[in-house]
Amino acid sequence: MADNILDRFDKVFTEEKEVDASKKIKVGIIGCGWIAEAHVKSYLKCPDVEIVAGADLIPGKAEKFFKDQGIENVRCYNSHKELIDNEELDAVSVCTYNATHAECTIYALEHGVHVLLEKPMCVTLEEAVEIRRAEKKSGKVLSIGFQPRFDENMKMVKRIVQSGELGEVYYIQTGGGRRRGIPTPYGTTFIEKETAGIGAIGDIGCYSLDMVLNAVGYPKPLTVTGYISDFFGKNPKYMAKPEYADVFGVDDFAAGFIRLEGGIILDFRISWAMHLDTPGDTIILGKDAGLRIPSTDCWNGSIGGPLKVYHDVAGECVVTELPMAKNKGDNFDKKIRSFVDAVKYNLPAPVPSEQIIINQAIIDGIVKSAQLGREIAIEIPEI
Ligand SMILES: NC(=O)c1ccc[n+]([C@@H]2O[C@H](COP(=O)([O-])OP(=O)(O)OC[C@H]3O[C@@H](n4cnc5c(N)ncnc54)[C@H](O)[C@@H]3O)[C@@H](O)[C@H]2O)c1
Repeated sequence: MADNILDRFDKVFTEEKEVDASKKIKVGIIGCGWIAEAHVKSYLKCPDVEIVAGADLIPGKAEKFFKDQGIENVRCYNSHKELIDNEELDAVSVCTYNATHAECTIYALEHGVHVLLEKPMCVTLEEAVEIRRAEKKSGKVLSIGFQPRFDENMKMVKRIVQSGELGEVYYIQTGGGRRRGIPTPYGTTFIEKETAGIGAIGDIGCYSLDMVLNAVGYPKPLTVTGYISDFFGKNPKYMAKPEYADVFGVDDFAAGFIRLEGGIILDFRISWAMHLDTPGDTIILGKDAGLRIPSTDCWNGSIGGPLKVYHDVAGECVVTELPMAKNKGDNFDKKIRSFVDAVKYNLPAPVPSEQIIINQAIIDGIVKSAQLGREIAIEIPEI
């Protein structure tokens, strides 16, 4: 009863915006694998979007994909280049494996096409810089596919930090883990060097980094000491199929100690597989209060339980637990809708690459520091 009454108040503030379907945007899908399905399902909920074309490097895959999705009259191609050269598109979703994110995105931007690029942004910082340059030159929208940004509890993390409740933030611990969670349900594109480029650090590490960096305003990273390992991926007994261990070429665990501008220390650890349930909750320590963000068993960017703020009231140490916020609608749908709106109405990118390049610079720094076996400086060139 009480809930129903509250819902009525809520409705006033969350009334659906009407979509103007008189002008449709033409969208193409690059890469017709696992995540492309989620993109298509969300685009189909947009009455102002027409999916007109798709591409996949594997001959026949795009055709089968659109048939399975029940969408007709989609023109299919065997590469991102063929698709962009032959179509008059407003926008593309880049749903390819990490290693081809940069080339597909740059090609689309250079040809005047707006891009929704799946996470992680790419594999290396150098690629991220090239993407940013192409974006800047093109003046087109480039948004990076972080759907947790649209989660109400994730937004609350940012609101708490930005409200000043914690005071000046000086230490952040983040990451996330899976005891067994090397993603191979559809083959080996997540674990081969040639297709994935990076492993857990890019796949799920990018979510943890975005959660905290977005909350504290994406300060510049200065230095990093990184560590990566592959003890589970290389061991046939931990793989869904023993032969996968032979092709495993990325990290399954990573850790990093990063100094950020403004005197913030970022302590990060991420795992696709380990002999532990979780490497710990995310914590953000400020001079006035601390925030605990509970982890999940299988980290994928969602918050595992109520947020807790540790602070003092009249000299007593107290803990305030925030009730979990209810999400209205699906976060993936919101990621697609916000991109479509940005394209149609010339709005800023919902998840800007200007921020995510910092996320990528930290990932890249951890990998390079681990390879060198020492701390390194992180330098992001002017773009
Ligand atoms: N946001 C999310 O929740 C989420 C979930 C899963 C995956 N992802 C991301 O989506 C991306 C794709 O993951 P996936 O699981 O769909 O991979 P996948 O291997 O199932 O599909 C990728 C497809 O891209 C095709 N491809 C690669 N380069 C191409 C090119 N130049 N032109 C045309 N096609 C090309 C491949 O042939 C393959 O079929 C990854 O970067 C992954 O991190 C995001």
